[in-house]
Amino acid sequence: ATKILLDCDTGVDDAMAIMYAALHPEIELLGVGTVWGNVEVPLATRNTLRVLGLVGGDTIPVAPGAAGPLAGGPASFAHHVHGDDGQGNIHDGVAVRSPAGISAAQQIVELARKHPGQLWLVPVGPLTNVAAALALDPELPRLVAGVSLMGGAAGCPGNVTPVAEANIHKDPDAAAAVFRAPWRIVMAGLDVTTTVLLTAAHRERLAAGGEAGRYLARILQHYGEYYRDEVFGEWACCMHDTLAVAAAAGTLAVRLAPVVHVEVDTSDGPARGQTIADLRGAHRGYPEQPGAHTTVLLEVDPRLAEEAVELIAAHRGSA
Ligand code: BDR
Ligand code: CA
Repeated sequence: ATKILLDCDTGVDDAMAIMYAALHPEIELLGVGTVWGNVEVPLATRNTLRVLGLVGGDTIPVAPGAAGPLAGGPASFAHHVHGDDGQGNIHDGVAVRSPAGISAAQQIVELARKHPGQLWLVPVGPLTNVAAALALDPELPRLVAGVSLMGGAAGCPGNVTPVAEANIHKDPDAAAAVFRAPWRIVMAGLDVTTTVLLTAAHRERLAAGGEAGRYLARILQHYGEYYRDEVFGEWACCMHDTLAVAAAAGTLAVRLAPVVHVEVDTSDGPARGQTIADLRGAHRGYPEQPGAHTTVLLEVDPRLAEEAVELIAAHRGSA
């Protein structure tokens, strides 16, 4: 099984990614860090603990992380997408256990040192904690198997600006540090995460499932309504974060994914937060780019949606 450390800003699609990682037999979820992003970090932590409790993940450590961007400055959130509670406004109020006594960045370093060469970091929120971990331990890049992240947009429009995706746009300085570090990166950006959709039929299947499936169906309602009104015109939503988990674990069928140079725009101009991927050379099958270390997912099998829905819906009781 692939050892994974998730780092998430637990909103709705993050919750699904946590469930997938905790339940998939080919994944060993060793820890979760939380980060500001969709919601404030205490809420992300609470939601993470709540979701883990639904999938038998009560012994998986959850370490709280950064409350705002690496360079300081204001933090903005996405409650309009994920709800006031970050969980589709269900406000379930269920009590959760206490988080771990270390920071998310410390947990990254500790788990990487404990499992040298084996751990996949899977950040699916702003990259603040991962950049902080790099600063804590400059040897981190050679200690991990790689970084599989949800973020960016290589050859397609952005979502929060014409060219930038939310996770990168929220903390471009952190993202730039992560893309510069000498490790293997897999980038599951909007190019692919907007092609793997949950439909109303998927939601019904979840609603007919066990406790985790029913919870996910409830929190998806509001998220899919946001996408209905702002994006698709009918109830549907992007799975986003689960793709980064599945890419790390090798459970995502990838059809096109060149290894290219990626740079993050940290300017204050209109391209702030853009991931500039060098996708020249498509007609020549993307010739090798010396020094490039980022695999940019460009086409994946959308049947990940069915697989993930079935895995979660079928879960009964503790894992
Ligand atoms: C990303 O931003 C967050 O809202 C989602 O959880 C996802 O990680 C999509 O741009
Ligand atoms: Ca996220």
